Amino acid sequence: MSNREKIVVLEKDMEIQKNYIKQIKEYIGKSKKIPTACVQTFGCAQNENDSEKLKGMLLSMGYELGNEPEKSDLILYNTCAVRAGAEDRVFGNLGALKHLKRKKEDLLIGICGCMIQEEQVVERLKSKYKHVDMVFGTHTLHKFPQILYETLEQQHRVIAVEDSDGYLVEGIPQKREDPYKAGVSIMYGCNNFCSYCIVPYVRGRERSRDKEDILRECAQLVQDGYREITLLGQNVNSYGNDLDSGIDFADLLGEINRIEGIKRIKFMTSHPKDISDKLIETMAECENVCEYLHLPFQAGNNRVLQRMNRKYTKEHYLSIIDKVKKAMPNITLTSDVIVGFPGETNEEFLDTLDVIRQVEFDSLYTFIFSPREGTPAAKMEDVLSREEKQKNFQTLVDLQNQISKKKNDAYVGKTVAILVDGVSKNNPEMMAGRTEGNKIVNFEAKTAKPGQIVPVKITKAQTWALIGEEV
Ligand code: SAM
Ligand code: SF4
Ligand code: F3S
Repeated sequence: MSNREKIVVLEKDMEIQKNYIKQIKEYIGKSKKIPTACVQTFGCAQNENDSEKLKGMLLSMGYELGNEPEKSDLILYNTCAVRAGAEDRVFGNLGALKHLKRKKEDLLIGICGCMIQEEQVVERLKSKYKHVDMVFGTHTLHKFPQILYETLEQQHRVIAVEDSDGYLVEGIPQKREDPYKAGVSIMYGCNNFCSYCIVPYVRGRERSRDKEDILRECAQLVQDGYREITLLGQNVNSYGNDLDSGIDFADLLGEINRIEGIKRIKFMTSHPKDISDKLIETMAECENVCEYLHLPFQAGNNRVLQRMNRKYTKEHYLSIIDKVKKAMPNITLTSDVIVGFPGETNEEFLDTLDVIRQVEFDSLYTFIFSPREGTPAAKMEDVLSREEKQKNFQTLVDLQNQISKKKNDAYVGKTVAILVDGVSKNNPEMMAGRTEGNKIVNFEAKTAKPGQIVPVKITKAQTWALIGEEV
């Protein structure tokens, strides 16, 4: 059996899950009231995408979807393990559900996602969170109908966790959250094992979906009126490495760009070690691929980068940025940075600030290092105190805020294409939308309707958003 055959979940196995969906639907059909399910998501775009699948399955089973746990018959947490803070929040919320369960005996509580792939989390749930009815990991998400059926049928908790390298599953129904913007997973898992990161342990090995499945999904989304498609993967640049066809990410992007009617294509995340000249050229050439690149650099110092197992240097990173800027002078650039990696000195941190000054990112996602059990960095020695790390973090945020404002100032007077989201949250008299590079624009509308792409002249810049008027 080839590796591909081992990881692809067969249609006949998905038929079994469909059958569970049918049985739950019949069961619900017999009750007097339509039950409500509330799915709460923590973590990244991949998890959001998984939650849309959980919601799709729940709708097929006959559930209604809601946002209020207190009014729900089923509460499901889809969890993230990337930093301790995310896990603490889940445990806090889960603890608070104890009294709700006491008041409402037939309430079902489920927890799934990345945290559940950690052994110590499952042990803690088993011993201290006995009010949780369903526990399932990332590799058993497609078996949710069976897990729910067994919980309902047997009236006892079901724990379905598989220690595996992961599967490729097609055909799960999906309830999209946004009417115009959709995420499409092109691959799952990660092989990079950056020394601080839990993702490879909880998401399994890299596996790419077949090109035909991705193209079919994108074409359907365009037909359904979606304007923007974001291709998702932990490292989209390694798309195709596990396929025999020789296709790479740039080829895939080129093919998606040719889908009739597609307007905006984005992707995340890219790893600097794998970004190719071919990809940069493809981005520049493809008229529907947005001039937007999220390219995490994590740290500016080469010794730190090596200890992070990132497999590139500061110089290499800056050379990629140079090429990208030459090919697409209007590109919007964003990145992820970790402050306080174990062993990072104050002097080494200055290299991080130097990268930020040289590149001038439009915005940054900044994190203080959080030790994750089982990763090599969790055992590395610290040299900086908590206070010093916090101080460095603040220095970085202040520097980036200045740069973000300067980058936004450069938009004043220009006319940019905005994908309209709807009425502005800050001012009900204005509409809000996003540029190609994901910048928020609040603007005075003339005829603009949600879902349209309209020209907006920028009249004012703030650090986090732009203000303008429809042309
Ligand atoms: N695959 C992407 C990449 O390589 O850039 C993103 C993965 S992760 C879900 C998103 C970000 O979380 C990372 O880029 C990193 O900056 C941050 N991160 C991951 N592990 C972390 C940790 N242990 N402590 C703090 N930040 C972390
Ligand atoms: Fe984590 Fe590194 Fe993989 Fe990104 S590339 S998911 S940071 S191990
Ligand atoms: Fe978190 Fe899992 Fe994403 S650990 S960041 S939800 S892949």
